[in-house]
Amino acid sequence: MAERKLLLEHSHLPEYQTLDGYKSKDGYKALGKALKMDRQAVVDEVKASGLRGRGGAGFPTWIKWNGLPKEKKSPHYVVCNADEGEPGTFKDKQLMEQTPFLLVEGMTLAGYATQSEQGYIYIRGEFIDAARALRKAIDQAYSAGLLGKNIMGSGFDFDLDIHLGAGSYECGEESALMSSLMGERGMPRLKFPHAPLPTIAGLWDRPTLINNVETYCCTPFIINNGGEWYASLGASTKNSRGTKIFSVSGHVNKPGNYEIEFGTSLKKLLEMAGGVKGGKLKACVPGGSSVPIITADDVDRAILGYEEMSEVKSMVGSGGCMFLNEHTCIVTFIWRTAMFYANESCGKCTPCREGTRWMLQILDRIRVGNGQPGDVELLKEICSQIDGRSFCGLGDAAAWPVAAALRVFPEEFEYYIANGKSMVTTEPMLAMAP
Ligand SMILES: Cc1cc2nc3c(=O)[nH]c(=O)nc-3n(C[C@H](O)[C@H](O)[C@H](O)COP(=O)(O)O)c2cc1C
Repeated sequence: MAERKLLLEHSHLPEYQTLDGYKSKDGYKALGKALKMDRQAVVDEVKASGLRGRGGAGFPTWIKWNGLPKEKKSPHYVVCNADEGEPGTFKDKQLMEQTPFLLVEGMTLAGYATQSEQGYIYIRGEFIDAARALRKAIDQAYSAGLLGKNIMGSGFDFDLDIHLGAGSYECGEESALMSSLMGERGMPRLKFPHAPLPTIAGLWDRPTLINNVETYCCTPFIINNGGEWYASLGASTKNSRGTKIFSVSGHVNKPGNYEIEFGTSLKKLLEMAGGVKGGKLKACVPGGSSVPIITADDVDRAILGYEEMSEVKSMVGSGGCMFLNEHTCIVTFIWRTAMFYANESCGKCTPCREGTRWMLQILDRIRVGNGQPGDVELLKEICSQIDGRSFCGLGDAAAWPVAAALRVFPEEFEYYIANGKSMVTTEPMLAMAP
């Protein structure tokens, strides 16, 4: 299977960023169609499509869309998670910069389906170009009556605003994102079953839908072509439908975003990205820095699908796929990853705040040649004490890569500890201390 471009089909055309250019490629056809449909019929199409959230967890999208109260008693909100903080992932950035109308139309569709009158796009602060592209698109949509009051003469009102974050990975976690959007400190809140779902009590305790950029961008295609058509893509997999954009980086000849149909092999994705650069393939982190690392042998047999990736003990995640060649020191790579999570831990809960810092300290001492004989066991123990015990998913995201590297490449850690240096010639980029 080669690339299968839906979302990225017209992304190379500058005119696709203008309303006229977007409309000339079927833009706003889906919204026009949806506004004539019953709201529930729109949700049902999303259900039939089998779409799962592209932010990382792969949660069925229709369940969220269906979860907002049907009897409206208060304002409803639609939020887009455009924080894209997971290292290795850069697909949402491209979508917002090059296909901003897809997101605006997708969110308007979601607003209609969930009886929401207000949408917010929470964008990672550094994504200035993306915010500008969206600003232009939103302004044009307002001028054309595609946002605001009485959209397309349907009687449906929907406003859309952009909010720039201040550069915190934690603010991509949905409850922290909502806290931040409300002007509070970006920390996570209690989750279901200990607190109501966001669809019942989210922003300002009102029913709120929150999805990732790519998730919303899929929905115009679903409404235009029908949920069943969308579900025919990826049909070879157990339960992954449609296309998925993978951000390919690391030691490859042609890094970039590649949109594939679920069911494509990971090896094929590597081929699309021009193959490995600078040596033989050693390892791959297929779904963003938090997902477990896999070996070159696993790459040969991995199929890109939510369930399929568990066969190689990894995940699709957010689709940030990093390939590492034989000259990569796994200890250094994991140390750098651990540094990110320790820096980004918000500090709310002890397992994550203390655990990420402690893991980093041990990896630090291994890296400078002061590793102690029991360090591998100690790291494993800390990982198991963080995993599943932190207040939000950041702790898991920090523990998984370390635990996986210790499981898959134990000899690299043992060697480093015993000899005070790496088994491999470290890539200068990765060896660099911050
Ligand atoms: C620490 C942390 C950071 C996250 N960062 C992001 C992010 O940057 N973008 C995103 O879409 N989801 C992120 N998520 C997942 C969101 O909490 C949430 O699952 C997602 O926005 C739901 O959208 P979806 O159903 O469309 O995937 C993060 C989760 C955690 C635990």
